[in-house]
Amino acid sequence: MARETTLTEPGWRALCRVDEVADGESKGFPPVREGYAGLFAVRKGERMFVYVNSCPHIGVPLNWRNDDFLTLDKIRIICATHGAEFRIASGECLLGPCVGEYLDTVELDIRDGVIFVPPDAGL
Ligand code: FES
Repeated sequence: MARETTLTEPGWRALCRVDEVADGESKGFPPVREGYAGLFAVRKGERMFVYVNSCPHIGVPLNWRNDDFLTLDKIRIICATHGAEFRIASGECLLGPCVGEYLDTVELDIRDGVIFVPPDAGL
């Protein structure tokens, strides 16, 4: 599960401001370097979750458009390729071909309303 701390580790990079992700919505962050997966964030009230954008089924991106990572009712993360559904708070697959597997959780730190992630996360 994503953690929130008060001290940002040296070298962590800013992902975006918390208020750039609407409550109950998701936002994608394409990779900085070619060949990497990139990240996505989901906001639930004051809680924020960040995962690597790679489905544990076959390792493809989960989204079909940049910021669309959630089911229509916004209660789970969904993979656009084969429809696997994941618990937002843990990344656990609850439905689909990779049940019981997990999305790769990215540690995060929120400071002054900005989300920071480790320097190599999802590059
Ligand atoms: S690639 Fe995500 S469910 Fe198959």
